[in-house]
Amino acid sequence: MMERMFGRPIVTQEEMHTRIRELGRQITADYADKDLILVGILKGAYAFYADLARAIRLPLRVDFLIAASYGGKGKSSGKVKMMTDLTEDIAGCDVLLVEDIVDSGLTVQYLTKQLSKRKPKSIKVCALLSKPERRKVNVTVHYVGYSIPNKYVVGYGLDYQQKYRNLPYLAVLDIVDDEGQGF
Ligand code: IMP
Ligand code: MG
Repeated sequence: MMERMFGRPIVTQEEMHTRIRELGRQITADYADKDLILVGILKGAYAFYADLARAIRLPLRVDFLIAASYGGKGKSSGKVKMMTDLTEDIAGCDVLLVEDIVDSGLTVQYLTKQLSKRKPKSIKVCALLSKPERRKVNVTVHYVGYSIPNKYVVGYGLDYQQKYRNLPYLAVLDIVDDEGQGF
């Protein structure tokens, strides 16, 4: 009954933690002699971010920004806005953007472009999820937890109309939105 209310689980908590530990190991190796700053894109990335940061065995710095797409109901409208900025100076640093899901790619494209102006040494992207079928712009997602089909997912930080972010697993939401996305 609960499962029904909260959609069908597609990735369990255990699977997620195993995958995030793998990503953490890979990032630890890749950034071993770098000046890593993990930039979480809120709100969606909060749950993934907390687990990923603890899976990386390096003296990294944490920072966050809040991004929103205006007019969007869970999906990106194409216009992205930075609602709050970073607190750290990223010039000369190795920035890893941490995102919940890359869908059209517009959010990651916009933020990468904006942050690049501050002259970081490098800037890469780590996303828990990617929906390659939905891509509108060509962005490189350097680290991906799972590539998923074109279904609307919630939980583990991801929302539907600001709800379900606290679900401890990832679920397909049994709804159809006005673009027919979802299930
Ligand atoms: P993009 O700019 O189209 O790549 O969209 C990225 C943002 O859209 C994500 O950070 C999410 O906030 C939202 N989004 C895209 N697909 C989903 C989904 O299936 N569930 C929840 N949010 C989604
Ligand atoms: Mg988001």
